[in-house]
Amino acid sequence: MKKQQTGQSMDRVDGRLKVTGGAKYFADHHLPDMLYAALVCSPITSGTISSINATKALKAPGVQDVVSHLNAPPVPGYKNAEAGAKDGLKIFKDNRIYSNGQPVAVVVANTLERAVYAASLVEVQYNQETHHTDMNASMNKAFQNNRMKDYLRGEADAWKKAPVTVDATYTIPLEVHNPMELGGIIAHWDTPDTLVLYAKTQGVKNVQDTMKKLFQLPEQNITVHSEFVGGGFGMALRVWPMEVATILAAKKIRKPVKLMLTREQMFTLVGYRPNATQQLSLGATADGKLTGITHEAVAITSPYEDFTEGIVAMSKFMYACTNVNTRYQLVPLNMSTPVWMRGPGEATGAFALESAIDELADKLHMDPLQLRVLNHADTDPERNLPFSSKYLKEAYLLGAEKIGWANRNAVPRSLQENGMLVGYGMSSGTFGAYRGKATVSATLKSDGSLVLQSAASDIGPGTATAMVQIAADVTGIQASKIKFMLGESRYPFAPQQGGSSTVSTVGSAVTDACQALLQKLASLGISGPDFKGAEQEVTVTATSQAGKERDQYSMYSFSVHFTKVHVHPATGVVRIQHIVSVADAGTIVNTKTARSQMIGGVVGGIGMALTEEAILDHRFGRFVNNNYADYHVPVNADTPPTDVYFINKKDPYINPMGAKGMGEIALIGFAAAVSNAVYNATGKRVRDLPITPDKVL
Ligand code: MOS
Repeated sequence: MKKQQTGQSMDRVDGRLKVTGGAKYFADHHLPDMLYAALVCSPITSGTISSINATKALKAPGVQDVVSHLNAPPVPGYKNAEAGAKDGLKIFKDNRIYSNGQPVAVVVANTLERAVYAASLVEVQYNQETHHTDMNASMNKAFQNNRMKDYLRGEADAWKKAPVTVDATYTIPLEVHNPMELGGIIAHWDTPDTLVLYAKTQGVKNVQDTMKKLFQLPEQNITVHSEFVGGGFGMALRVWPMEVATILAAKKIRKPVKLMLTREQMFTLVGYRPNATQQLSLGATADGKLTGITHEAVAITSPYEDFTEGIVAMSKFMYACTNVNTRYQLVPLNMSTPVWMRGPGEATGAFALESAIDELADKLHMDPLQLRVLNHADTDPERNLPFSSKYLKEAYLLGAEKIGWANRNAVPRSLQENGMLVGYGMSSGTFGAYRGKATVSATLKSDGSLVLQSAASDIGPGTATAMVQIAADVTGIQASKIKFMLGESRYPFAPQQGGSSTVSTVGSAVTDACQALLQKLASLGISGPDFKGAEQEVTVTATSQAGKERDQYSMYSFSVHFTKVHVHPATGVVRIQHIVSVADAGTIVNTKTARSQMIGGVVGGIGMALTEEAILDHRFGRFVNNNYADYHVPVNADTPPTDVYFINKKDPYINPMGAKGMGEIALIGFAAAVSNAVYNATGKRVRDLPITPDKVL
């Protein structure tokens, strides 16, 4: 019997390429005659451009062109939208400035240094208008669009009638995407009608589709390459205006152009997790049964798009509660558009909900773990459906055992170690377990090796590795003889790598393609284990998607995070000592890469909890800490021993593998686990992230 590959800790198939520098990220590509772009970005935050003088820049050495709204090629897909239509920033269409850092021109030269220098010579005059970047000062502009209707189950604001209540405001700051790999693109118009892109993207087909619409070209005229991506986290789930600006420059100049953002530009050009304020109110009986949940959130968006996410989603189904109402509103500011950022929405909402549950436990003199178990939702109270699988209670108990929850003292500020205040905290997290539609081709070569292709992406979790394992189990072919190829728009369709859905979506298509291949081979008289005898390659293609099971079951992944913290009594500095994270994510295809992914999410959570905060100077609408030195992402020294556990039980309904998805749940809830531990250590409840020493003291 062949050893099952799914569930093994197989090394990454591309691990060697990544650690030896052999993996080519978008900016590692070099095309003949390639030119370099530097952006000129707006120093004003609202207004119009009155003039652009590029004379000096054009005379600088090596400069090819300065492209702006004054001379950019037309974009056929820019709609002549009715006034007020919020369909995105149409870069170089007109002279309007919506936010600070908006690109106003792109300077193209034969070296990067020359482009950067010439960009400093472009003289732009502006008509400045009043700008608004402060959500608190603009609350009167809060609105709802039709994607964000109020939710009501049972009675509204029922919490007010309860004997025990929590009613608190939780805020999170604006968090910026800071993967190691910067944003950017290489654009080349092979002919006036054929476009080749090397992109940093979570979905080559999505980029292709966006270009198809913008330039009104047939799909086959657009080629997108993106084999390796140095971290996405949501920032590469869409095409950004700076990429379109580069594509327009390349179109005008008719040579390949490469743009790579600076770290500073990452703060204004690739989205961010929007800052939000949330009112979370809970009501419970004296013995801890929840009787009312009210969750109202306000978050920011840009003037030209309404960005929405699942901020209030979790409050609707996480706990068994008859009366729940939620409201979600947006405040448009002179900012670029926010975007999904790991655990989008739910990470924000979970901070409020899971902190409030902890506050309620404290008021009830009840263990917060016990309170959660008492209010566990056995079925989905929002959709009135069974969960496809849910092992949250097991996760609670396993995590509690592994962190040493029994050592916790419910009375705040009652434990010390080496002069440090000691606290324990916990939280839960959840995210939808999705399954989209994807196509995979499977080719058996005459030497018995198998090649799979799909236009999927790998932003880091190890997609190809997991797909090889799945294919090995279906076909019985040795993993070392299977290759999974991704990141090319010419491969069969796969959706973006987002929403923790790739293993579910693409893995299902791999399963179906491999099964179809086995059938085809059997009809040709070719069988395993060696699959010898084919005179030529045999290829099949299969498309796979979810069925009606999604109407019969609610599908979610769940996580539980436990932390033990030390707080310095005099300085308020929080040091996390130990982390235990447990995931109920169905079958774990690769325990090694899954563990890495959980740790990565936790590290993001440490940043959210303790350090990350993009600070605006509202007088100018400009970020003041737009660099790696001042915007603090966690480093190794901030990251304590992190123990990851998987329930690893198959979901019977979601897909053939039984794998749910875990990219988002790795982070969701984590910040509350830290905040709750800080309360336990100090008696100080911090409801305003990040938990910096000044707030703890
Ligand atoms: Mo994820 S925020 O869907 O990249």
